[in-house]
Amino acid sequence: MACLSPQTDHIGRVKVLITAGPTREPIDPVRFLTNRSSGKMGYALASAFAHEGYSVLLVSGPTDLDVPEHVDFVSVQTAAEMHDVVSRYIGRMDIAVFAAAVADYTPARVEPQKIKKSGETFSLELIRTVDILGSARESLGFGGTLVGFAAETENLEFNARDKLTRKQCDLVVANDVSKPGLGFESDQNEILLVYPEHSEALPAASKHELSHQLVAAIGRLHAERLSSPMPI
Ligand code: PMT
Repeated sequence: MACLSPQTDHIGRVKVLITAGPTREPIDPVRFLTNRSSGKMGYALASAFAHEGYSVLLVSGPTDLDVPEHVDFVSVQTAAEMHDVVSRYIGRMDIAVFAAAVADYTPARVEPQKIKKSGETFSLELIRTVDILGSARESLGFGGTLVGFAAETENLEFNARDKLTRKQCDLVVANDVSKPGLGFESDQNEILLVYPEHSEALPAASKHELSHQLVAAIGRLHAERLSSPMPI
């Protein structure tokens, strides 16, 4: 049996990687596929972790937000770029939190010139992007505390628990993105923390307030993982 060893930085801070925002999947020089993520949830988390003394690396798709103070930052556009950056840094992290709304599909080809309109209908061939969270454990070999998000419009707990198991997370933060005024773009959210053995609802509050509660919950989870023996 062995214990996980903390991989703090040179001044003893626990290191956390956070993904945030949408991705942009180009179609041609003037068009892209994206989604409604503003980045507010991921940036609020980055700010709260930094405030609590963690060393934070924020990997973000395009947003209008200012980078929080005392946070290292890498900007990306596409799911493939986000995967490349996460692959490069995740091995040095103690905790990884995936709050980004990453495109599940990307155009099979990026046209070099602006596509001209022609027929009455137009079809676009899409191919799957890499599942960054889903590759963290096996293909990227991440052994730290792994937190995913689940944006659902139905069966919130069931779908989040399925993601928890399939993606080998320690915690999934589930939000019902069909509720008006919460989730995407809003300053407010309402979340369900889905752990392997139980769930805990956090009532609707600002993303700022929820982020501080989340940092406390993830900190406790990380401490528990460090103190529990792991099979070798
Ligand atoms: O950015 P805001 O406007 O503040 O909105 C916040 C939010 C709604 C985007 C956020 O709270 C949230 O739910 N983020 C996850 C959105 C999402 O894409 O969920 P999902 O259920 O499709 O994906 C599940 C998990 O896999 C997520 O952790 C996601 O980051 C990750 N994923 C998904 C696809 C992919 N190719 N790679 C991934 O890493």
